[in-house]
Amino acid sequence: MTILGIETSCDDTAAAVLVDADVRSNVISSQHDIHAEFGGVVPELASRNHQRLIVPVVQQALRDADCTADDLDAVAVTYGPGLPGSLMVGLTFAKAFARGRNLPLVGVNHLEGHLYSVDLSSPAPPRPYLCLVVSGGHTELVRVGPNFEHSVLGATRDDAAGEAFDKVAQLLDLGYPGGPAIDRLAKMGDPAFHDFPRSRLDEYDFSFSGLKTSVLYYLRDLGEEKEDVLKDHRADICASFQQAVVDVLVGAVRDAARETGAEHVAIVGGVSANSALRAAIEEAADEDGFEVYMPEMAYCMDNAAMIARAGAMHLQAGHAAGATLDIQPRLRL
Ligand code: KG4
Ligand code: ZN
Repeated sequence: MTILGIETSCDDTAAAVLVDADVRSNVISSQHDIHAEFGGVVPELASRNHQRLIVPVVQQALRDADCTADDLDAVAVTYGPGLPGSLMVGLTFAKAFARGRNLPLVGVNHLEGHLYSVDLSSPAPPRPYLCLVVSGGHTELVRVGPNFEHSVLGATRDDAAGEAFDKVAQLLDLGYPGGPAIDRLAKMGDPAFHDFPRSRLDEYDFSFSGLKTSVLYYLRDLGEEKEDVLKDHRADICASFQQAVVDVLVGAVRDAARETGAEHVAIVGGVSANSALRAAIEEAADEDGFEVYMPEMAYCMDNAAMIARAGAMHLQAGHAAGATLDIQPRLRL
């Protein structure tokens, strides 16, 4: 099956072509530069730029895959969760395209796309597996079974892990998105420089807003020394903050793996690109004896290959969408 995937849930306009499980193209047009000056995604600007970019991005995905629209068997598109105006551009385009070419259309939950992004690499995790989804919008610990069975074991009560990276990066004048900048700087810093709080709630729920606030208070309490401390210790602060996030996430994964007897553990979503998190989970896997699965870098961040993959799985299970498919900005797993 040759399937075109389309993803426009936030600020990346993405299209990909998959032939069976093989990714033939994966085009992502990031709008980061457009949103950087505002310190975060501006929904109105995001949808306008999706509108501008969707046709050239799809054309590029077809060209990179060395195929034309005639070669396609189906179209998969993200219909939620995400920004309404952004989702609307991708879904409207996908509907018109599928209708015009008489192709089946399938709607994909963006979070399912992330869950199954590990299936794009080999070996794919056998079901069931325990999956930590860590992105800019979500932090969820999910047990993934066969036939699209998902049970959410825990989630964030406030900020997502990626959101905490982005907000702390803003406090440290590192621009947007903040995760990659903190990751880079933290490599040169001392994670023991400052002891930021590691908060874990009941069961497997998370809370990252306290950690973000403690960085804010730490910087505020430096008073007049702030600029000097930042000049000398920005990397140390990044490393200390990042270590707190990693300890919380890896701690929860280890507890959940032990308590549920999970032998296969995946970490997916934008924050799964974090080098300290990847190293810490590998170490935990060695110590605790579970297998770990992480997407290739190209499939950590929002991308359409994961949407095409999840869409193909749904089509194989007979789940095509009707003409009334609508966006669901608050869709859950
Ligand atoms: O999955 P994603 O591309 O979009 C959402 O679905 O939200 O995740 C984006 C998030 C941003 O918050 C970004 O700062 C974070 O992933 N991120 C990282 C890294 N790369 C991206 N966070 C920590 N370390 C990284 N290397
Ligand atoms: Zn995402």
